[in-house]
Amino acid sequence: MNGKNAGYRLGAVALVLIVAAVVGWRLLWVQNGLDRAGDSPAAIQAFLDEHWKHPLPPQGTPPAHYPPNEALLGAQSCAQCHASQFKDWQASRHSQTMRAGIVWQFDLFGQAESNTCMNCHAPLAEQKALVARDMSWANAPADDPPAHIPRQLHHQGLTCAACHVRGHERFGPEHRAALSGTESGLPHGGFQPRPAFSDSKFCATCHQFPEDGPRLNGKLRQDTYNEWLRSDFGRQGVSCQACHMPDRRHLWRGISDADMVRRAMAVELLGSDGEDGRLDLALTISNVGAGHHFPAYMVPRIDVRLVLLDPDGAEVGQLLHHVLQWRTTVDLAQEEFDTRLPAGESVRLEAAMTRPDVPGYHLALRIDVAPKDHYERMYRDMMRQAQRMKPQTVDLLRIAMREAAATRYRAINEQVALDDVVALRLRYRPLPEEVAAP
Ligand code: HEC
Ligand code: HEC
Ligand code: HEC
Ligand code: HEC
Ligand code: HEC
Repeated sequence: MNGKNAGYRLGAVALVLIVAAVVGWRLLWVQNGLDRAGDSPAAIQAFLDEHWKHPLPPQGTPPAHYPPNEALLGAQSCAQCHASQFKDWQASRHSQTMRAGIVWQFDLFGQAESNTCMNCHAPLAEQKALVARDMSWANAPADDPPAHIPRQLHHQGLTCAACHVRGHERFGPEHRAALSGTESGLPHGGFQPRPAFSDSKFCATCHQFPEDGPRLNGKLRQDTYNEWLRSDFGRQGVSCQACHMPDRRHLWRGISDADMVRRAMAVELLGSDGEDGRLDLALTISNVGAGHHFPAYMVPRIDVRLVLLDPDGAEVGQLLHHVLQWRTTVDLAQEEFDTRLPAGESVRLEAAMTRPDVPGYHLALRIDVAPKDHYERMYRDMMRQAQRMKPQTVDLLRIAMREAAATRYRAINEQVALDDVVALRLRYRPLPEEVAAP
């Protein structure tokens, strides 16, 4: 847990004191001209504009005093000393951003457009050069890469160095034990602490399109940071990192993770008996735990079903089916519907049935997630044009289809007996413990 979150847990009186103390320190800084480097919103933005200025410049020749393991840009070398970050990152989606799903498209797009994709998927100049070699693009470097560039660096996707290394210098958040990074004897020449790493704007670089970015039906195709700003979490300063990197862990769990998706939802099913054995059902689903729309993007599809099971457990009818998705045509030209739940909002779904004459029936609530639904549809569509593609492109497309379909899972499967209970209340802990309100 970091210090900021510990603050949330203190009582109201303590909180007032802390605020007063901070104001006092601030005055001191200003008086002494010692304001910490770069923690105003303008300074954070200025750092990020520079840090993510595309195309990123090559890192250049490693400083002569770096031993070989500190000069290496690959994640495996960082792992020698930062083992926990490596383990978490490797299991996260950020280490998977250069799999078949994107790579098969490079041949169709060509180099300029593919490099734009890589600004988010594999942003280092060294990664783009390795892709250019694989693709035999005209200006690909002729020589083998120098020793500090692992030959598989592009396959690492959003590797450590993409977020943390510029000109072979390490940039990171403010150090937990308040090291300044300039202490003597630190590996890789020390590091430069920057508050921008703990700010939601750090993520906006790739998870928010600019105001003039592509829109559909008036809505930016990626609007996660703005959705967060408008949410209660944004207003209270609960950052992207607080939910997706609790205690600074490199997890980035999202729609592909069943626990994370359950955490987003509060679900309530209420029944009321009417005339002649009629049973009215109301199912309410609320987005209580995602700091943005649920789901955030136009890619995932979430199917909510309420079905009736007979005493043998066999499905005998579907009472309700609702899809949560921003669904578009595969070419992204048209919106079909947008049923995502903005942060804090709910949808109420109704159904009715006649109570069975015999006991033993159950209702089952099933919530199924297809995290890559848009891509699954797009890949199937593209497969019809396979004869116009190179054989190796078609091979990759096949792998992409397989991998996308394999991400589907059932997030919720709850049953309630019709005989005794008529109310099923599922309330999932809306937030990771680390950001629980006071
Ligand atoms: C030989 C060991 C070693 C290697 C290899 C190494 N580091 Fe470090 N790194 C350290 C030490 C030690 C510190 C400073 C103390 C600490 O982290 O508490 C540090 C600090 C950092 C910080 C600053 C953390 C903060 O709190 O702001 C970042 C970021 C970082 N390293 C990234 C990397 C990356 C990325 C790589 C690989 C490209 C890497 N390091 C390779 C040992 C290493
Ligand atoms: C998508 C960008 C991104 C990638 C990729 C990434 N990091 Fe980080 N890293 C961050 C951010 C952001 C923070 C600060 C989080 C916070 O302040 O809550 C951080 C924090 C750190 C810290 C300080 C941890 C602490 O507990 O104080 C170290 C060390 C570090 N990263 C090393 C690595 C290593 C090693 C890798 C690769 C295995 C890696 N990072 C990959 C964004 C990234
Ligand atoms: C502004 C940053 C950004 C750019 C530029 C970008 N992407 Fe992505 N891409 C993302 C994010 C964020 C996701 C995760 C969305 C999700 O999974 O819901 C993603 C997901 C994907 C996926 C699904 C990943 C998988 O393994 O299934 C594919 C495929 C993809 N992008 C292809 C592309 C292609 C092709 C381009 C260039 C035409 C591109 N992207 C440009 C940010 C970007
Ligand atoms: C209060 C906790 C919370 C905050 C704050 C938050 N998220 Fe999330 N996020 C979630 C949960 C829970 C999910 C899983 C449900 C979902 O996919 O919406 C998620 C899912 C995602 C996904 C998966 C993509 C998708 O289509 O759903 C991405 C990407 C993401 N978040 C990025 C961000 C970014 C960027 C920010 C900050 C601007 C942020 N999140 C802030 C909780 C949070
Ligand atoms: C350099 C670009 C970049 C940065 C910076 C970045 N991301 Fe991502 N992120 C991506 C891409 C690309 C993907 C898609 C991964 C894939 O292939 O599925 C992704 C995926 C994710 C997912 C997983 C979505 C899922 O399918 O479950 C979450 C959550 C997420 N990012 C959160 C964050 C947060 C929080 C930050 C800030 C600390 C951040 N990202 C910074 C590019 C970035």
